[in-house]
Amino acid sequence: MAEKGSSIPGPRPSRIIGNLKQICPKAHITWTEWCQRYGPVCRVNLGPMGDSILLGNIDVLRRAFEESPEIFSGRFVLPIVKKDGAVGTMTWENDAVYDQRRQLLSTVMKQVDLDKLAQNEAIAVCDVLSEKGDTSSDLVYRLIEEANLSMISTFCFRREQRCPYDDPKFKELKNRVTKMNHKLKNLMGEKANLFPVLWAPFYKDFRKKRKNLRCLVSKELDAHKENLDSSNIRDLIDGYLGKADGIEFPENDCPWHIMNLMGSTITLKNAIQWIILLITKHPEIQTKVQEEVSSVFVDRAPTTDDVDKLPYTNATIYETLRIACPAAQVVPHMTQKDVNFDGFDVKSGTVVFGNIWGLHHDKNHWEEPEKFNPDRFLDSNGQLDIDKESFVPFGLGKRRCPGETYAKKAMFMFVTNIYQRYGFEAVDGETLPDVDEGVINVGLHNPPPYKLKIVPRN
Ligand code: HEM
Repeated sequence: MAEKGSSIPGPRPSRIIGNLKQICPKAHITWTEWCQRYGPVCRVNLGPMGDSILLGNIDVLRRAFEESPEIFSGRFVLPIVKKDGAVGTMTWENDAVYDQRRQLLSTVMKQVDLDKLAQNEAIAVCDVLSEKGDTSSDLVYRLIEEANLSMISTFCFRREQRCPYDDPKFKELKNRVTKMNHKLKNLMGEKANLFPVLWAPFYKDFRKKRKNLRCLVSKELDAHKENLDSSNIRDLIDGYLGKADGIEFPENDCPWHIMNLMGSTITLKNAIQWIILLITKHPEIQTKVQEEVSSVFVDRAPTTDDVDKLPYTNATIYETLRIACPAAQVVPHMTQKDVNFDGFDVKSGTVVFGNIWGLHHDKNHWEEPEKFNPDRFLDSNGQLDIDKESFVPFGLGKRRCPGETYAKKAMFMFVTNIYQRYGFEAVDGETLPDVDEGVINVGLHNPPPYKLKIVPRN
């Protein structure tokens, strides 16, 4: 711990832009180096937004997010989000309204059949793969994207009916979500976000795209009103209209909440894309996964009831979350009170970053952290053991990912269904990308696009 009152160590900032230039494009790598050089509590200057702190090991992250949630669980609302009104978005809300919105989401998640949701989509992906054979080599990558959107739209507003990927309604939704996310990425991922004077050209277009999506969601809201049964909540819109668990929010907030969730589930899409990429890069691991899946699901489709019977497959999923780290950083937090943390004085309103990537590659906790090795998540009896000190793919504390249970089910269903029927190989003459070729986008670590050859199993 530093001597009380000492100033927080960190890289020397430049005038006006502070440390912003040094951070991009791969903040998670730079931050890991800074935390090694300056210590696990490190100062990063965000130019016009002043000093922030970066937390870089499991000990400080736990003490901040788990042990002092009243101080460290505030959300830093990006200026662009604030300008737009953060209402209905949960991720960008604080205080009581945040707690209630989160409770509402959790209630709806308990009522919706998440197993079935994931199972239907995993089967749909496999069916499309079998229709197309191995002709379209980037099909897998695209299908996972579509499956993810289909799952979240079923959860939000399609009640129990999923929409086929080639349905015009689904295509329209995909088109609008993709356009909006693209604009959002430009706005939030860029340093322009920290210099409000630069917003104007991006912002106008973003609003237009978002309005398009909102119109579509509003139509779904109207359709739901016609046959609402508040004793049977089947999706998020039902939850809003039917006041699930007695929690009441204006229905006007619902489209924002849905748009926020559609953005949040990109992490799940990334995770599944990473899993398939990394398994394909390691054929011996693919064989082990396929054999385990086939030994448990001999003549039936996978279900989540048997999740405990597939330790190796699960270990492969968790090792992917560790090494590829789809959420490389937590969504920025903000202190809600002045505090002395680790000997440093930190003011209320300070932005706090948590570098999950650094934790998952910390040599003090992981042997050969750069090696993809699912065995590290198995105990000496070959059983799954994910209770690892420096492993927090879903974050920790009050802001921990609310989609964790759902994401785990979905990853399991996708991997088991797909590897029961298929394997993959690199396309002849092409090299599959490595983890360090991942692309950072608004704190998320996306795999670069890749192509695979689909190999049906006998
Ligand atoms: C493998 C998939 C996923 C991973 C690794 C992941 C990881 C994370 C992480 C690290 C955070 C930040 C926690 C923090 O700021 O302290 C987060 C937040 C969040 N995630 Fe996920 N997530 C995944 C999937 C999902 C899904 C499927 C959903 C939606 C159903 C979702 C919804 C959210 C929301 C709404 C937040 C903001 C929570 C808040 O502000 O309190 N995530 N996630």
